[in-house]
Amino acid sequence: MCGIVGYIGEKSAVDILLNGLTKLEYRGYDSSGIALNNGGHIELYKAVGKLNNLKENIRPIKDELDKSTIGIGHIRWATHGAPTTVNAHPHTCNCGKLVLVHNGIIENYQELRAELEKQGCLFKSQTDTETVAHLVAREFDKVKDLTEAVRLATQRIEGAYALCVLHQDAKDTIVATKRNAPLVVGIGEGEYFVASDVPAIIDYTKKAMYLDDNQIVTLTRTSMKLIDKNNNEIKGKVEILPWEPVALSKMGYKHYMMKEIHEQPSIIRNLLSGKITGINENLNLNEVQLDKETVKKLNRIQIVACGTSLHAAMVGKYILEDFCGIAVDVEPSSEYIYRKTVTDENTLVIGVSQSGETADTITAVKQSKKRGSHILIVTNRPDSTMAREADSLISVCAGIEVSVAATKSYMAQLISFYLLAIYIAEIKGSVDKELVKKLKKELIVLPEKAEEVLSQENQVKVISRKYANAKNFIYIARGINFPTALEGALKLKEISYINATGYTAGELKHGPIAMLDETLPVLSIMMKGKVYDKILSNSEEAKARNAKMIALTNSSDEKLNELFDDIIRIPETDEYLSPILAIIPLQLIAYYIAEFLGKDVDQPRNLAKSVTVE
Ligand code: G6P
Repeated sequence: MCGIVGYIGEKSAVDILLNGLTKLEYRGYDSSGIALNNGGHIELYKAVGKLNNLKENIRPIKDELDKSTIGIGHIRWATHGAPTTVNAHPHTCNCGKLVLVHNGIIENYQELRAELEKQGCLFKSQTDTETVAHLVAREFDKVKDLTEAVRLATQRIEGAYALCVLHQDAKDTIVATKRNAPLVVGIGEGEYFVASDVPAIIDYTKKAMYLDDNQIVTLTRTSMKLIDKNNNEIKGKVEILPWEPVALSKMGYKHYMMKEIHEQPSIIRNLLSGKITGINENLNLNEVQLDKETVKKLNRIQIVACGTSLHAAMVGKYILEDFCGIAVDVEPSSEYIYRKTVTDENTLVIGVSQSGETADTITAVKQSKKRGSHILIVTNRPDSTMAREADSLISVCAGIEVSVAATKSYMAQLISFYLLAIYIAEIKGSVDKELVKKLKKELIVLPEKAEEVLSQENQVKVISRKYANAKNFIYIARGINFPTALEGALKLKEISYINATGYTAGELKHGPIAMLDETLPVLSIMMKGKVYDKILSNSEEAKARNAKMIALTNSSDEKLNELFDDIIRIPETDEYLSPILAIIPLQLIAYYIAEFLGKDVDQPRNLAKSVTVE
C-alpha cells in the first residue's frame, strides 16, 4: 500500500504532489508528507491522519511553498511503526540532505539498521524505510552520484520497494526505482512525474513509462535516463495511457460507497452488452485466449484472490464446477504461495483482483506462470501489474472504485464469472442447453431486478438501524450463497467494526450455535432452490435459541413472518444467479449501520483499498 508521487518541472510542485496524493488516498491514509527542494534546500512537511491534515498545515505557508518546482510526496498505510509524524514519510539521513519516500517492505531492515547504527547513523523512526534513506545517503557520500548511490544501495535490500529520492547536492534531479511494487513515470513538456498509480498523474499527462523491476530512472526537467541494475542504459517503453482524467464525484450521494452500490445495475448491463447477443447464440468472450481444444482438455482450475475478490471467486467455483464439470480450487493467494500446488499444462489459473496490484495475488500468479499454466486475470484495472502477467484478460469495467469497501467491483467480478462459466460450458457442451438459455434470459433482466432491490433501500435502512447496536452478527447461507454470507459479513466488519461472521447454515449447530441468545442477530440468506428448506430448518434452530432473526429471501411465503423478526424480500431469480441480487441488501445493511454509528464509511480505520505488501 502507501502511495508515492514525485514531480520535477516548472510548475508549483506542492499542488501537483497534493493533488496526486489525493488520488492515491485509497492506498492508505494513516499519515502523509511531502519534501520540497526549495532553492537548493530541502524542506519537509508531515501530518498524522488524513491528507486533509497535511493540507491544513500547509495552507498558511502555501504561497511561499509555491516557488518550489521539485518535490516528492507520500501517503502511508503503516506497516513498521505506528502512524505518527516521526514515522511518516519522507524519511531522511543524518544530515537531512537526502529524502526519500517508499512503498513496500524492506525485509532485511533489522540487519541493515544494526549495521548502519554501528556506523553512526541515527535513526529517528521505527520504520523499515529509514534504513534505505541512510543506506543511499552513505553511498552518495562515497560516489557523489545519486543514481549510482540508489543502484548500490538497492542491491543490499531484500523485499519490495518503489522509491523516489531527492538529495540536496544532486541538484534538480529525482531518482526513482522499484522491485515488486508499481511505479509509473509521467512524461510532460519540460516536466516529469512519478507515481504509484496512474490517477496521480493523468490530470497532467497521458504519456508514460511503467518501470520494470530493478530499473532505475533519473529525471531532470529536460531528461529521463533509464538504467538496469548493472548500470546498462536501456530504452524504456513509452506508452500513451488509455485513460481520461476522471473528476471523481459522489454524484450527490453522501459517500462514494452508496454511489458505487447504485452503479451496479448499469455495470451489469454494460458487462453483458456485446457478450450475450441472443439466447440461442453462443456467448462471446474474445478475451479468453485459450483455443477450443485447450478448453476441452482443461482438467483443473485454480482461482487465487484476496478479500472481496476471494468471495467472488467462491461463487465462480460453484458455477464453473456445476456448468463445466471441471474441478475448481479457490484459495487465498497468501496461502497458495507458500505450498506446493499440483498443476500441469491442462490447469487454468485465474487471478481475481479489483486493483490488480494485490501483492499476494501477483506472487501467486507469477508462480503459476513459471509452472506453465495459462493465466487468466479478472480485474478492474487492465493497466495493472497483474494484468500485465495475463495470457487472457477479463476487464470487469466497473469504473474507478473509490470506497475502500468493494461493492461494484464484486458485482462486476460475479458477472464475469457467470460469463466465463457459460462460455466454457458452451465450448465443452457440458451443460444442459435449456438451462443456459434460461440463465441468459434471466441475466438480461437482472439489471432491472437489481434496480428493484435498490428501490427498497428505505426498508433496509430501517431494519439496519434496528440492529446497529449489536456487538456480533451472524450471516448464514448454504450452497452458492455461502460466499454471499461471507461477503455480507465482511462488508459489515470492514466499515462498522461489528464482529460479523458468515457460516454455512449446516455448520451452525457444530459450534457457533453456542453463542446464540437474544442479543445476537442471525441473518439467513434463503433463496428459492435446492437448499431453501434446509436453511429454513437451520433458521428454526437459531430461533429456538432466542436469536433475533432476519431473513433475506426471494420467497413470498407468508409463514416466514412467524419465524423472522424482519424480512427483506428481493425479486425472484434462478438460484444460480441469486448471489447477484442477494448481495445488494447486505451492502446496504453494512452501509446504513456504519453510517448510523458515525463511522468513516469510505475510509474505514486500518484498511487500504490496494494492498501492495505481502
Ligand atoms: C484490500 C481491500 C479489499 C479487497 C482486497 C483485495 O484488503 O480493502 O476491499 O477486497 O484488498 O483487493 P483486490 O484489489 O485484489 O481485489
